[in-house]
Amino acid sequence: MDRKSIKLAPSILAADFARLGEQVIEAEKAGADRIHVDVMDGHFVPNISIGVPIVQSLRPVTRLPLEIHLMIEEPDRYLEAFIEAGADSLLVHQEGAVNLHRTVQHIKLLGKRAGVVINPATPAGVLEEILPDADLILVMTVNPGFGGQHFLHGTLGKIRRIRQLIDQVKPECELEVDGGIDALSARLVVEAGAGVLVAGSSIFGVPAGVTRAMEHLRASLK
Ligand code: DX5
Ligand code: ZN
Repeated sequence: MDRKSIKLAPSILAADFARLGEQVIEAEKAGADRIHVDVMDGHFVPNISIGVPIVQSLRPVTRLPLEIHLMIEEPDRYLEAFIEAGADSLLVHQEGAVNLHRTVQHIKLLGKRAGVVINPATPAGVLEEILPDADLILVMTVNPGFGGQHFLHGTLGKIRRIRQLIDQVKPECELEVDGGIDALSARLVVEAGAGVLVAGSSIFGVPAGVTRAMEHLRASLK
């Protein structure tokens, strides 16, 4: 993959929520390609984060696509609400969508991009049947639920296998990774075939600020 075409998706989970609008604007100015919004319900993952009103408030603040990572049970119940609030793409977990194909079709019928997410313990093979319908595959490189965890190196082989599968079956499908992405792991996942990198702590949790943090991440890919 051409390093210059790698996309960065700052995850606002690590932002200062009291200054969320400002931080998203700063990320946009610094060259972010999309904004990643982590929605957690305390059931699918052991943590509660943010929901529909945050998406609604962010919509007028940025022109960047808002990508909603649904770490919730019964995601079908909330698709419309997130789309009405301004979501551009909805990412649902293979492990949490009982009728995954129906959910993906529903998102597309509503005119938005559909992503399928898999956890570290979920094998690449589960993607085989759904890949033709997905616009994006998101590989979790930590267990979902919390920001600031260590990148799991064991996921690299799977990223490589999914890259091969995508190249064979649907080359236009994006391959994104999420969790523990910093200047070191970014290089590894890109070498393995990832094209979109979600990063929370290494963008919003850096004392030098969002702009410097994003420059540093991009520089690590050169
Ligand atoms: C984890 C979330 C991630 C999280 C990444 O469950 O899906 O998007 O914000 O945070 P970092 O980059 O700090 O690992
Ligand atoms: Zn996420």
